[in-house]
Amino acid sequence: MRSLISIADLTNDEIEEIFTLADDADKLRADKVGAGQIMATLFYEPSTRTRLSFESAMQRLGGSVISCSDMKASSTAKGETVADTAKVVSSYADVLVVRHNWDGAVQAMAEHADVAVINAGDGGHEHPTQTLCDLYTLRKEKGELKGLTVVVCGDLKNGRTIHSLVCALARFGANVVTLAANGMELPQYVIERLEREYDYAFAPVPSGDLNAVVTETDALYLTPKQPHQLALYTQVDKVIQSQLSSMSTGLRYDALYMTRKQKERMKEGAASACYPTIGPEFLQEKRFQDTVVMHPLPRVDELSPELDKDRRGIYFKQAAYGVPVRMALLEFLRRSNRAPRPVAVKGRRSYRSPEPIGPKCHNVNCITVNEAVSTERRFRVYFADHIGALILGCDYCDHRFKVDYVGNVKTKRYSSFDNALTDTIREWWDKGELALFDSIKEAEELGYEPTQSSAQRILMSEAEIDNALAKMSQQILRDCRDPDRLLILGVRSVGSQLAQRIGSALEAQRKRRPELGEIEIYGSGDELRRVGPADPDLGPLSLKDREVVLVDDVIFTGRTVKSALSIIFRSGRPRSVRLAVLVDRGHREVPVKPNYVGKNIPSSESERVRVRLRGEDREASDHVVIYSIINPAASAPAAANSSRERAANH
Ligand code: NCD
Repeated sequence: MRSLISIADLTNDEIEEIFTLADDADKLRADKVGAGQIMATLFYEPSTRTRLSFESAMQRLGGSVISCSDMKASSTAKGETVADTAKVVSSYADVLVVRHNWDGAVQAMAEHADVAVINAGDGGHEHPTQTLCDLYTLRKEKGELKGLTVVVCGDLKNGRTIHSLVCALARFGANVVTLAANGMELPQYVIERLEREYDYAFAPVPSGDLNAVVTETDALYLTPKQPHQLALYTQVDKVIQSQLSSMSTGLRYDALYMTRKQKERMKEGAASACYPTIGPEFLQEKRFQDTVVMHPLPRVDELSPELDKDRRGIYFKQAAYGVPVRMALLEFLRRSNRAPRPVAVKGRRSYRSPEPIGPKCHNVNCITVNEAVSTERRFRVYFADHIGALILGCDYCDHRFKVDYVGNVKTKRYSSFDNALTDTIREWWDKGELALFDSIKEAEELGYEPTQSSAQRILMSEAEIDNALAKMSQQILRDCRDPDRLLILGVRSVGSQLAQRIGSALEAQRKRRPELGEIEIYGSGDELRRVGPADPDLGPLSLKDREVVLVDDVIFTGRTVKSALSIIFRSGRPRSVRLAVLVDRGHREVPVKPNYVGKNIPSSESERVRVRLRGEDREASDHVVIYSIINPAASAPAAANSSRERAANH
């Protein structure tokens, strides 16, 4: 059964096919191609345009509509699951159009429905039919999508229309400039999809270039990997500056896509943060004379009504196209399901845990967390060799997170993930023996025992770590031009703990605590956030003009630092970024050079260097260890309490 859950469910050719049908909407109407069809609209969240344009579309096709005027007044209020609702309504209608407040809920419903399901917006995740309207509008206005530069502006984090739109623009070869309100940057999973699937890369655009229109924002330019690439230097000030000036010329903006602050998806406090607006000045700017302004609507106050009468304000036209585009989509799905044809979407294999306990999606708004019974525990697996991590992507909401422990269901052994185990893990997965765990506790609850590792040597003792951090803190303060602008950012999790210790050392020297934050490279919440019991009224961290010190535990290939740097540059424009690492292993794949190093420990690729801090996984003291990895597939069974012995020996 063909449904539309994500914009990725349609190929570019199919999108073109839908547009051709939309061009002929009058004919579809005259032919009554939807006669006898019943469409059910199930909206768990408010809607005007999406719902009414779908209902109008089906009626114009000659079909009819059934609907629950308010899902809160349906059996949902009595506790019915989305799975049951989907199953039941499937027998009343030929197609379901669903909007839900949980990410991934429409996917779950499609899995239980016997008819086609269309996603009319699921939480902060996707809104593929809005994207079809957006692309159709852009194509009508500008001719071709390829090569266009579209500025997406506002709440890029929670705006589901944006998540579907940027991926579609990338697929059609358009460039995207992201102009996010502070703390509302594009989520990591969307950026990764762009980088991984469409080979897009980020480059910064000077904010001055756009702030005639919008204020208090920084822009980033997303483009097919050539020719702009994010510069990778720890002393970014000069490099970025020169890159900015080289880019400030020659950018043509074809469209500016404005969005509303999605207050309903924000914690209190964040909702009051400042937000860009487009006002009448926009009309006067010569370089925007051919820039059309779009908005999925409803608008609040981010878009001045003065633009309504201007030929460039095309958002009402965009809303009007909702009917022919949705008529075309309904007809496209009807034809596809009447004469099923091979679906061209990539059939990536999903991982299912063979154990009753295992990883859970970390996105608190995901259907799998809110209504697990309607879902399966299914994930996509990414071996992120470059940063030595095993990443799971939720099949429902696409959020990604790191898993730390891998086990084998037959031998009942587990160990921490390591790149060297990649082939073994693939093999276990093929045989259905791969058990993944979020924590040692999960593995041990199921009776798993740790795999033995080779003998470990201690490279730094607690006292040495203390001394190194104290020395680095002094150097940081010495190099700092304006200590009040200092921002210490640690890479989660060990780097973040070290950053907090550096923060305490700086506080002891200056009698004032510097601002502290952490970066989560593979998380599903905010990738950049304050640490500790931060005051919720402080709002998101601001990087503008800050002297940032990025802290990590070990630098080896430099790729983790590269990922952290790109998060920093995506989130704002610091005055400088310096890098502090406790251990430098002296091998580098990317040109990053730490400014502050606790200890240089040249080591080979087959060795592992780990910073273990007191309290983590039962460690009794701080220390840095080195060991070589032993493949658990080949190793002899370990002593049941080896990890505890190891901890006790230190
Ligand atoms: C959008 C939505 O619901 O995501 N509205 C729409 O469908 N046109 C945008 C929004 O609510 O801001």
